[in-house]
Amino acid sequence: MLSLTNKHILLGITGGIAAYKCAELARLFAKAGAEVRVAMTKAAVKFVTPLTMQALTGNRVSLNLLDTEAEAAMGHIELARWADIVLVAPATADFIARITHGGADDILSALILATAAPIAIAPAMNQGMWSDSGTKANLAVLRERNYHVFGPVAGEQACGDYGMGRMMEPKELVKNCSGLFKLGSLAGTSFLITGGPTREAIDPIRFISNHSSGKMAYALASEAAAEGARVTLVSGPVNLPTPEGVQRIDVLTAQEMLEACLNNVSDADVFIGVAAVADYRPQQIEQEKIKKNDGLMTLNLVKNPDIISEIAKLKNRPITVGFAAETNNIIENGKDKLDKKKLDLLFANNATETFNSDTISVTAISADEEQPLAEGNKNLLARNMLSLISTRLKK
Ligand code: C5P
Repeated sequence: MLSLTNKHILLGITGGIAAYKCAELARLFAKAGAEVRVAMTKAAVKFVTPLTMQALTGNRVSLNLLDTEAEAAMGHIELARWADIVLVAPATADFIARITHGGADDILSALILATAAPIAIAPAMNQGMWSDSGTKANLAVLRERNYHVFGPVAGEQACGDYGMGRMMEPKELVKNCSGLFKLGSLAGTSFLITGGPTREAIDPIRFISNHSSGKMAYALASEAAAEGARVTLVSGPVNLPTPEGVQRIDVLTAQEMLEACLNNVSDADVFIGVAAVADYRPQQIEQEKIKKNDGLMTLNLVKNPDIISEIAKLKNRPITVGFAAETNNIIENGKDKLDKKKLDLLFANNATETFNSDTISVTAISADEEQPLAEGNKNLLARNMLSLISTRLKK
């Protein structure tokens, strides 16, 4: 189910007895790493409660097309755009007939009309209704429009009949949906990334920090997630939105950053230290604002932990990748860091062109080679960096 990681599934439920299986369906989608939102027809509500679906998905269920409150939260057009796939399960004979004719008189049919995402239906009905020529003709039209039709399967029916018409089992539906997505090149891998500056308090007002916009780390996190990786981003204070599909842990100090990394490193295949960690912190944080005086001000500083070196020391360490923003002797200093911090790979660049900028030039340094990467914006660089890292994942 790796291809479902971070995918948006819009689950449409219509009014058939198989609707009770949607609770399990939503749970399996969530387990496969997808985010699920549910839209239900009026009849579906008679079989499974919106509260159940809300509790299982963690998202409000869409029930009415003309609900002002719901439209203000996530309107139906927005929801139609949000979906990577729409799955109607169960899809009753009546609902199939309505969407065949382009009806939009309830929330689910309107969503189906509005969405550009692929649409799959899991028909479920009495065997007589399934073999009726009206249903057959409707399905032929939907297939012609590239709808995916999953099932039904044969078996015992709620009405006592035996035959074709049972909804495909939730496990099979999830498998079929996942087959509709291409696997990203990093599917099944897990990344832990640090980004942004750390901030070390001097007193309640002042702190020591470094220049760092966080843009490189956020570009790496975003591109890795887009390729299907599970990404945890441990971030210092920056002014950037969390990339889609990325789990973000906010920290302030180097010690907090180290702790968050150690707590999340056990299942990481790759650790990328992009954060500009403050090398020192005040020995003591003053509880009250330090008063100015006319003479020299002395601060006692103690060394902060070197986070990436701590990760590199671990017994089952992930592939450990660092950055070096240098102002001079860029390659030489980069090689020195690769060696001292025991890294697998290091990206060295000129610090003066890095901060807050969108384009940089970088050299990849490993024990056996140096390779300049094509200059470009941080997202392009991130993709090139990830492709270098992924060759190591395959070794
Ligand atoms: O030593 P310097 O700060 O130049 O090293 C850069 C690399 O080491 C980066 O990957 C940075 O994220 C990491 N680092 C760290 N903890 C520190 C200092 C640097 O993880 N205390």
